[in-house]
Amino acid sequence: MNPFVYKNGALHAEDVAVADIASAVGTPFYCYSTAGLVQRYTDFANAFSHNRATICYAVKANGNLAVIRTLAALGAGADVVSEGELRRALAAGTPTDRIVFSGVGKSRAELAYALTQGIVQINVESEPELEALSETCVALDKTASIGVRVNPDVDAQTHAKISTGKAENKFGIDITRAPAVFARARDLPGVNPVSVAVHIGSQITDLTPLRIAFGHLASLVDRLRADGHNITRLDLGGGLGIRYEDETPPTPAEYAAMVNETLGHLDCHLMFEPGRVLVGEAGILVTSVLYDKPGESRRFVIVDAAMNDLVRPSMYDAYHGVLPIRETSSDIMLSDADIVGPVCETGDTFARHRAMPPVDPGDMLAILSAGAYGAVMSSTYNARLLIPEVLVNGDAFAVVRARPSYDELLKLDQFADWQ
Ligand code: LLP
Repeated sequence: MNPFVYKNGALHAEDVAVADIASAVGTPFYCYSTAGLVQRYTDFANAFSHNRATICYAVKANGNLAVIRTLAALGAGADVVSEGELRRALAAGTPTDRIVFSGVGKSRAELAYALTQGIVQINVESEPELEALSETCVALDKTASIGVRVNPDVDAQTHAKISTGKAENKFGIDITRAPAVFARARDLPGVNPVSVAVHIGSQITDLTPLRIAFGHLASLVDRLRADGHNITRLDLGGGLGIRYEDETPPTPAEYAAMVNETLGHLDCHLMFEPGRVLVGEAGILVTSVLYDKPGESRRFVIVDAAMNDLVRPSMYDAYHGVLPIRETSSDIMLSDADIVGPVCETGDTFARHRAMPPVDPGDMLAILSAGAYGAVMSSTYNARLLIPEVLVNGDAFAVVRARPSYDELLKLDQFADWQ
């Protein structure tokens, strides 16, 4: 089910014309579909309906409170990587017994905050962090159930900047060190090692690297159990890819079959941290054409969104589909164009060499699959305002983050007292 389709020639988000939202909030804006979120979450959850499993939505993919709440209402937990994300998950109503705290550099203050909230699991990613967590637990008179994130040295075959499971990546503890780290954890006060965690990368479109990593995990759990550790949970991370261009990512059902094949016999409670696969295709970025600029060698369609609003194309050379809000009739001549933003960098390019119809200023375009790692990665570069986020549900829509004013932007700064 794609919630963004043309009806009578006009792009709709579920039953709402995207142009109607634009009239209300102005462009650019992000638009998310509740039906899209529900569908993706349900697909994922159904794939594991025969397992004991907790699906901890990776809040980093889209931290809007309304998005987190939509997923939490369906039973999702949360995977958070900072105190801010933990606060978002809690504010959206995620139950603490479904929140896991991951991340390669959690500060003592963040660990303390998580301990006072009583979340279900904290994943440690280094031996010094394990020591720091133990000391924090003792100081607060708490005991934490912990996972040890291991680095299995497997190439996830994805973009280098989002690959996390190779030995040279900063993430996790070398899998060969894991038995020693579990032994140390058992001796430390305040921490109870119950889980092994792994996450080898994002936008993974082939199950093979995950299968290899989970195979290593199974061997490790055998070894840890032989050493007398009571491993009751496995945190399998996120990483399942989506279709941006012509990828054919595995379905949640195929993924679940592989998980059960490789790890089912261990009889562990499974935790997952999917982000992109739950929210990516449930969001679009809507932008207006400012100018159609013919160049000597290229046609540039200049739009009012920019790399500060959606950085993925600049940062990872990521492909995003682009659709006009008004459907292009088949007799219209298309011509090759680059779609670019107004920021003063050549990298501010959303798409290259796309067949585009003629466009006029004010015509709108939708940049597709922008629900994950879109708004969360935005900035105010070039003193541009953060853009609104809108949530659609059937024939209703609501602004779930408003566009700030320039006054609010300027008020974030202050003069030094000598000025
Ligand atoms: N768990 C951990 C420990 C992670 O590091 C990540 C993502 C996830 C779960 C969720 O992964 P997902 O299911 O979304 O693939 N900004 C990049 C993606 C960065 C992913 C970082 N970690 C992008 O726009 O492609």
